[in-house]
Amino acid sequence: MFNFSFENQTRIHFGEGQITAITNEIPTDAKVLVVYGGGSIKNNGVYDQVVSALQDHRWFEFSGVEPNPNYDTLMKAQAVIKEHAIDYLLAVGGGSVVDGTKFIAAAALFAGDDPWDIVAKQQKVESALPIGVVLTLPATGSETNIGSVVTRDGHKLPFMSPAVRPQFAVLDPAVTLSLSDRQISNGVVDAFIHIMEQYLTYDVNGKVQDRFAEGLLQTLIEEGPKALLAESKDNLDVRANIMWSATMALNGLIGAGVAQDWSTHMIGHELTGTYGIDHARTLSIVLPAVMKVRQEAKHGKLLQYAQRVWHITQGSEEQQIAQAIKLTEEFFQRMAMPIRLSDIELGKSDIDILISKLELHGMVALGEKQQITLAVSRQILEQAL
Ligand code: NZQ
Ligand code: ZN
Repeated sequence: MFNFSFENQTRIHFGEGQITAITNEIPTDAKVLVVYGGGSIKNNGVYDQVVSALQDHRWFEFSGVEPNPNYDTLMKAQAVIKEHAIDYLLAVGGGSVVDGTKFIAAAALFAGDDPWDIVAKQQKVESALPIGVVLTLPATGSETNIGSVVTRDGHKLPFMSPAVRPQFAVLDPAVTLSLSDRQISNGVVDAFIHIMEQYLTYDVNGKVQDRFAEGLLQTLIEEGPKALLAESKDNLDVRANIMWSATMALNGLIGAGVAQDWSTHMIGHELTGTYGIDHARTLSIVLPAVMKVRQEAKHGKLLQYAQRVWHITQGSEEQQIAQAIKLTEEFFQRMAMPIRLSDIELGKSDIDILISKLELHGMVALGEKQQITLAVSRQILEQAL
């Protein structure tokens, strides 16, 4: 395997009732800004639990961070931070709120002229306000990682900085019981594809990473559909296993020392930026096409995936791989996700727009070997029709 340095210092408080842990996590002399989204936390009791845990703190709030957090919204938080001399941010929500809070934290201390340069020009984020997280939607892994994705005028762009890694994250599976089926599906499939982006590349003999990845994939295949079934959807063990899988999927552990792909995500971001499609629903369409178009380059890992994750042993190598791709698509469908562009009413005429967006954003050499040129991305999108 490759050399690597690994660190993930986010302290995790996992389990029912753990929101109380924020009382001791945030210094009592801090001036806290509680950042949240469209209000789901007011309907499911999470807001009340946070208010109760912060009763001895000075705190303010900033709401309205939308899915695929918008730059203009996030910049409005800067005035609140200045006005109240905020020095600690508490994100309460899903990946969008956490990502948005990371951008707010970075923009507050940004030394450059224009905070949009953090994503547009990948200007380095050297420092940021400290962040704590109460996660309400298991999906992105943002609660313990260094990544964030921000959208402005149809441009959806990521940045990474260790400065925005949350100091702590509360993962209470009980707060996920209020999620809609659509958001449950999105979360399970996003996490699944994060694992695939770090697993389905080429073999570097990273046995620990591979077997962790395979275990996480199998857990999501087993537990994901249960969270949609009436008889098991309120089972807290199911929710706990999904929540912990999603965090482990993108906390740096399984990606350390191995090749990583991320082409599905970069192509998917253009679908969200251009058409507003939910993040995970872009991935469930693009990944099967990547598996098919990149079959030769990914042959060894596809076969390993077929045999170890899906226990396929019959047939030629090609047949085993084809069967694994089919089972992956069927899993996504069991999770009520689209698997073709036609499932979301997009067609051939949309491909030129998506390719020009990829070009505009410099996404011209994607994948674990940078072999996914614009021509290959076009093949992938055509395959996804
Ligand atoms: O805004 P509120 O009212 O809270 O409602 C949200 C939102 O409408 C709702 N929700 C969240 N928790 C809930 C709930 N509704 C009921 N009960 C709960 N417990 O769900 C909706 C979607 O939330 P959002 O945060 O957008 O979803 P998700 O967690 O899937 O985050 C998606 C964003 O994360 C980015 C994506 O690109 C997208 O912008 N990603 C971030 C990554 C990272 N930082 O590492 C990696 C990912 O690949 C991804 O790109
Ligand atoms: Zn994702």
